[in-house]
Amino acid sequence: MTQRNTAQLSNRRQQLAEIRQSLGQNSLVLIGLMGAGKSAVGRRLAASLDLPFTDADSEIEAAAGQSIGEIFAEHGEAYFRTGERKVIARLLENGPQVLATGGGAYMDPETRDAIKTHGTSIWLKANLRVLMKRVGRRDNRPLLQVDNPEAVMKKLMAERHPIYAGADITIESREAPHEVMVGNILDALASQLAQETPRGIEDRLEQQPETD
Ligand code: S3P
Repeated sequence: MTQRNTAQLSNRRQQLAEIRQSLGQNSLVLIGLMGAGKSAVGRRLAASLDLPFTDADSEIEAAAGQSIGEIFAEHGEAYFRTGERKVIARLLENGPQVLATGGGAYMDPETRDAIKTHGTSIWLKANLRVLMKRVGRRDNRPLLQVDNPEAVMKKLMAERHPIYAGADITIESREAPHEVMVGNILDALASQLAQETPRGIEDRLEQQPETD
C-alpha cells in the first residue's frame, strides 16, 4: 500500500470515528421517495459506521403482523400512516442507529419534528428515471399498483420534494455503486461537523450521557 493510500485510510477512519461520536444517542435518518435507495444505502452506511440499521417499514410490518400491502388493503392508508408515525417515534428512541423511513413518513409534521429532535435527516434525491427503474423491480408498493405508476411518482415528486428539501443533508442518488453514495453521505456529515461552532460542539457534548 502506498503512503498516500495509508494516509487516506487513516483519514477515513478518523472521519468515521468523529461522525459516530458526534451522534451521541441520535440517529441518521434516511428520507426520500420510493426507489431512492434508502434501505440499500442505509444498510451499508450503518455497516461502515458500525451502527445498527433499522428499516421502519419492516418494523411496521412486524408490529402489525402484516405486510404493508395487506395493511393498505385491509385498513387503508390513513391507518398505515398512524402506525408509521407511532413506530418511527418509538424507533427514534433507540439511537444511535441508521434508520431508513418509508417515502411518506417525512411528510407527517410530527414525524418531522421527532426526526429533528432525535437525528440528522438525509434526503436521498433521485430523478424520475432512476426511481421508476428501481421501483419497477418489485410490486410491493401499494401506491404504485395502478395503471400509470409514473404519473403517481411525478405527483409525489411535486408534493414531496419541497418538504424533503428541509432535510439537514441532501445527497444526489444516482446510478452509482452504493459504496459511492455512502462515501458522499460520510463526506457531507464530516463537512457539517467541520462547520459546527465550538459552542455547538460543547452543547452536544454536554447532552451526551457520561461514560467512564
Ligand atoms: C410509501 C413508501 C413505502 C411504504 C409505503 C408507502 C410512500 O416505503 O412506506 O408503501 O408513501 O412513499 P419505501 O419508500 O421504502 O418504498
